[in-house]
Amino acid sequence: MYDFETLVPRRKMGSAKWAEMEKVNPSVGEDIVPFSVADMEFKNPPEIMEGLKKYLDEVILGYTIPTDEYYDAVIGWMKRKHNWNIDRSSIVLAPGIVSALFTAVRTFLKPSHGVILLTPVYYPFFMAASVNQCNVVESPLKFNGIQYDVDYDDLKQKAKDPANKMLLLCNPHNPVGRVWTKEELMRIGRICIDNDVLIIADEIHFDLIMPGFKHTVFASISEEFAQHSITCTAPSKTFNLAGMQTSNIIISNSEIREKFTEGNKNIASMSLNTLGYKACELAYNKCEKWLDELLEVIEGNRKYFVKFMKENIPEIKPIRMEGTYLQWFDCRGLGMTYKELENFMTQDAMFFLDEGYIFGQAGEGFERINLACPRHVLEKALLSFKKCLDKKLRK
Ligand SMILES: Cc1ncc(COP(=O)(O)O)c(C=O)c1O
Repeated sequence: MYDFETLVPRRKMGSAKWAEMEKVNPSVGEDIVPFSVADMEFKNPPEIMEGLKKYLDEVILGYTIPTDEYYDAVIGWMKRKHNWNIDRSSIVLAPGIVSALFTAVRTFLKPSHGVILLTPVYYPFFMAASVNQCNVVESPLKFNGIQYDVDYDDLKQKAKDPANKMLLLCNPHNPVGRVWTKEELMRIGRICIDNDVLIIADEIHFDLIMPGFKHTVFASISEEFAQHSITCTAPSKTFNLAGMQTSNIIISNSEIREKFTEGNKNIASMSLNTLGYKACELAYNKCEKWLDELLEVIEGNRKYFVKFMKENIPEIKPIRMEGTYLQWFDCRGLGMTYKELENFMTQDAMFFLDEGYIFGQAGEGFERINLACPRHVLEKALLSFKKCLDKKLRK
């Protein structure tokens, strides 16, 4: 049994999430925990921490390249967990996935080309396009009040425009929590490939799948899909290693891979992050049990959240979280504008979430809560939120 109960204080420890909370509300109390940025309020697996300590006793922290053991660990993980056979030569190392997304846009597109996004979506997708002077082409997901689906007619129309040359696909989807089915991915892939649209599949959340759902790696569907796509993977969400900035970009098509590698020179990174790559190897070789327990804890928190809202705040509608640890929920029933909602959350309720609008206009009136925290922390925050909301709504 691993420890998913201890809350590690991260105030003044350089945590981006905790620092952002204090920036948004400097008067925030000592006992408040943020639920925004996607890292976890759980300790890293002990196998990683102990392994790194041992490694530090032996290593010199100089320029680093991947070892055979490293490659074997990555290849083994993809095979065991995702039934995906990859060649060692297809693995391109990159500091982080956001960095890889930016490289992909910069390398394969020219300014004024279009990047298709299925919105609402993780906000750096918009930045990857706009920073490179490309157009953001939104194909909004269809929301039927319960669930989100791809609007295939709209996607087809956008893909047919020869200016739109790339789809940034988020699978599982942050923030709406969909784990796209194989059939859905096949439809998306067919549309893109037929229209010469390169698919960049960001699968950073691919290990975080809730019971009853199955993740399919886009590139594993067929050789044709593998040849027309780039898959972005990392141990960072799964094992809480975001600060290690270590990711594995899998590119089967040698021409695309060479271009990407050439384009990636622009980030001018001369070495791997020595500890990051060792942490990835340890994670993929030694931490499957820890992941199994983590998933149970997250599923428990998800169920708790959904039940809590149903019983206490029925105006709030959680959307089924099929994957990730990021629960998306509809707050439009509270009768506030999205700006009023933000103000209420951060200044009155001291409930620090990711506001839906940062994921695009379709996210206005929604919130995203990070459920990767000890249950007692979630319980306390929800009770306090309910108390504050009751005062406002039901006085
Ligand atoms: C879909 C998605 N891609 C990428 C990232 C971040 O990747 P990295 O830290 O490797 O740049 C996140 C973090 O939340 C994410 O949700």
